[in-house]
Amino acid sequence: MSTRPRISARISAISESATLAVDAKAKAIKAAGRPVIGFGAGEPDFPTPDYIVEAAVAAARDPRFHKYTPAGGLPELKQAIAAKTLRDSGYEVEASQVLVTNGGKQAVYEAFATLLDPGDEVLVVAPYWTTYPEAIKLAGGVQVDVVTDETTGYLASVEQLEAARTERTKVLLFVSPSNPTGAVYSREQTEAIGRWAADNGLWIVTDEIYEHLVYGGAEFTSIATAVPELADRVVIVNGVAKTYAMTGWRVGWLIGPSDVVKAATNLQSHATSNVSNVAQMAALAAVSGDLSAVAEMREAFDRRRQAMVRLLNEIPGVFCPEPKGAFYAYPSVKELLGKELRGRRPQSSAELAELILKEAEVAVVPGEAFGTPGYFRLSYALGDDDLAEGVSRLAKLLAEAH
Ligand SMILES: Cc1ncc(COP(=O)(O)O)c(C=O)c1O
Repeated sequence: MSTRPRISARISAISESATLAVDAKAKAIKAAGRPVIGFGAGEPDFPTPDYIVEAAVAAARDPRFHKYTPAGGLPELKQAIAAKTLRDSGYEVEASQVLVTNGGKQAVYEAFATLLDPGDEVLVVAPYWTTYPEAIKLAGGVQVDVVTDETTGYLASVEQLEAARTERTKVLLFVSPSNPTGAVYSREQTEAIGRWAADNGLWIVTDEIYEHLVYGGAEFTSIATAVPELADRVVIVNGVAKTYAMTGWRVGWLIGPSDVVKAATNLQSHATSNVSNVAQMAALAAVSGDLSAVAEMREAFDRRRQAMVRLLNEIPGVFCPEPKGAFYAYPSVKELLGKELRGRRPQSSAELAELILKEAEVAVVPGEAFGTPGYFRLSYALGDDDLAEGVSRLAKLLAEAH
């Protein structure tokens, strides 16, 4: 019998998506009839706007879309993405610099696979979204964490980045607005970081998927526009999922210098070929339409954001800086760890999250999933009543900690 491992070392090293796992667990308990409230989901609770759905229906009826199309994306969609990028970010690119992917996730994987050789280091600001480490690892890259906390609103400084830079550093991953913290860098901060990266010859992979979800005077700045000299070394990841409530449609994209996009397209041509044409035509309607649907969602998210932060900060032992973007709050629960609660003494945020799911039937994602134990991520992309009920259950339970 072969003694070789059944699963390769490369794939064994990949862990389950913690956020999807929490969401699945909460949904399973709910399906069993329990009134679970889930703060785990990373998706808008709104349906995709009708005009987008209609475009998909029409595409499904068109025989042209029943066949393979170019692996890198429908030409009209690539053109529309280039136009949208100019409209929203002031960044001018050719359609040939766009690769249409199966969601932002595939764009993240392809960006790192295309840029990294084994041993290349990537600076990643923690807390970070759970998918990045796996994509970097799979590409043979080495993640170097730059850890931030609530005292700076989870923003990294140039000094911190410089302290983490070595001669092996190839890429800085820049994410603003951030999942999981909701942190948004100002134009000045974005420019300072971009300039530092340019001066040091670094590449930037920037994830702009939450560009339209910023609140209370915060402004989204594309690092590609803030520092034009980065153009030859910046890769933008984006998609329709969060802006148009289209998480299930699976359309994202990558924008970069032509050689990078061509190489990434070669990879995709063997891995998955073109994204579903029906979904691409839906995305075309989305990006070439106006932004009124996201404006409506933003208003609802802003209201929920303010309610959630206020309610969380009223809980003794919980501290939540104000998130400025995306749809997540990222409170510290460090003061609660080690205290007695319902006969147990949770020592980590993961244990505390488990106890909360069992005792209060509320699902939150522990900070362990984002590289910083001692925190929770709570999505506020859920209805106002559920949000209030969920945080109130949390408050009632946590008040018992002593
Ligand atoms: C920061 C960030 N980037 C990218 C994505 C990927 O989105 P999708 O693959 O659904 O387009 C997500 C989804 O949660 C995200 O939070």
